[in-house]
Amino acid sequence: MIEVNNLIKTYKSGEESFNALDDISLKIDKGEFTAIMGPSGSGKSTLMNVLGCLDRVNSGKYTLNHKDVSNMTDGELATIRNKEIGFVFQAFNLLPRMNILENVELPMTYSGVPFKTRRERAMEALEKVGLKDRVTHRPNEISGGQKQRVAIARAIVNRPNVIMADEPTGNLDSKSSIEIMRIFQQLNDEGATVIMVTHEPEIAQHCKRIVSFRDGKIVEDMQVQNRILL
Ligand SMILES: Nc1ncnc2c1ncn2[C@@H]1O[C@H](COP(=O)(O)OP(=O)(O)OP(=O)(O)O)[C@@H](O)[C@H]1O
Ligand SMILES: [Mg+2]
Repeated sequence: MIEVNNLIKTYKSGEESFNALDDISLKIDKGEFTAIMGPSGSGKSTLMNVLGCLDRVNSGKYTLNHKDVSNMTDGELATIRNKEIGFVFQAFNLLPRMNILENVELPMTYSGVPFKTRRERAMEALEKVGLKDRVTHRPNEISGGQKQRVAIARAIVNRPNVIMADEPTGNLDSKSSIEIMRIFQQLNDEGATVIMVTHEPEIAQHCKRIVSFRDGKIVEDMQVQNRILL
């Protein structure tokens, strides 16, 4: 599903430069459920943004669903991102002036899905995350956990093969966090490949695999023992 080879991402500050991603190679198969862990500043978000086609590297190769995305133009990247990837952010990133249904419909307006289908699919996605009765609310009228569930509905509405999330439970209490992990587990059971960053070992314990970062390098890659099933 995803294969990256020898990724290097360099940031410069004045005379100094350092590698936020320092020769990263990683393979993630279809149906995996992977947590990315590591200290602050170790390169987790940098990697997620590259995997999510939101950012580029200085060198290395990235293959997503058999397509080499390393040398795509910004337009091509946007198209493949819209089709293949659902991205969930720590801060939800919902549009405040749109209601929940409209927020979820948004990715489909970019991909040219007709109005009626948009509405049906958005309702279907909202039902999946348990928010069908909140569709006319605006983001500021629902809780943090509910906002993140809307963001997940928005991420899955184009039926992506991969769901990526950068600290999706980072702003949530533990009860809401478990709800989010339950949804990710369900989506993974239904066939989606899930990749998420987390600081919390207990959250990572819900995944199938943990990849650990330090200083832009992968220092550990293991299967989860005694995985928590919800
Ligand atoms: N746009 C940027 N310009 C310069 N340096 C950057 C930029 N974005 C990230 N960095 C640096 O790259 C390194 C990796 O950052 P990254 O955001 O990937 O870390 P992280 O592992 O996600 O950390 P956290 O757990 O705090 O979210 C950090 O040292 C960071 O300061
Ligand atoms: Mg980060």
